Amino acid sequence: MSLRLGDIAPNFKASTTAGEIDLYEFLGNSWGVLFSHPADYTPVCTTELGRTALLKEEFAKRNVKVLAVSVDPLDKHRGWVNDINETQHCQVDFPIIADEDRTVANLYGMIHPNASETFTVRSLFVIGPDKKIKLMITYPASTGRNFHEVLRVIDSLQLTANHSVATPADWKKGEDVIVVPAVSTEDAMKKFPKGVKVVKPYLRYTPIPDEA
Ligand code: BEZ
Repeated sequence: MSLRLGDIAPNFKASTTAGEIDLYEFLGNSWGVLFSHPADYTPVCTTELGRTALLKEEFAKRNVKVLAVSVDPLDKHRGWVNDINETQHCQVDFPIIADEDRTVANLYGMIHPNASETFTVRSLFVIGPDKKIKLMITYPASTGRNFHEVLRVIDSLQLTANHSVATPADWKKGEDVIVVPAVSTEDAMKKFPKGVKVVKPYLRYTPIPDEA
């Protein structure tokens, strides 16, 4: 049975470039990004891990811990990290799982046999502090992911978690958000003191609420 949004993210123990990790202990109360790539020493993957390392502060600001996975062994990961640091001008210091027996890949459905029998595709899961899966995206091996988009979705997810708001198409941090349908306009007026713009009874905008 494949994982779906809202499911509990399966826990696992794994060997990583930062030692043995238990997913739940690693995450603690943080948000998490668990993402797979097909193989070490490949060009698109090199840029993806480099970009993730360069966005370290952005993930930290959002209380997100990052964990990469591929089916290559630890010694290969370690050598490759040197190349990533050199070519992408970064310091990869998030753990990379060596999933040689494919425990993590199978738990999270990261192997799509019609794409590759052996390698993980580019799967990415955002896991909330409640350990539930909040986002799943799957890209083919040939397309590098947009990590600014990952951060944008995390911003949206965190707003929804903290306030009764959703985010419209192409929303960017700083722009108005949408009042969720479950909140009446009367309640919205009280809940969002910065104001509620009613375009239609079901389409209501408000500026981003202040954090409590
Ligand atoms: C890459 O990371 O560059 C890559 C990996 C597998 C297939 C195609 C590209």
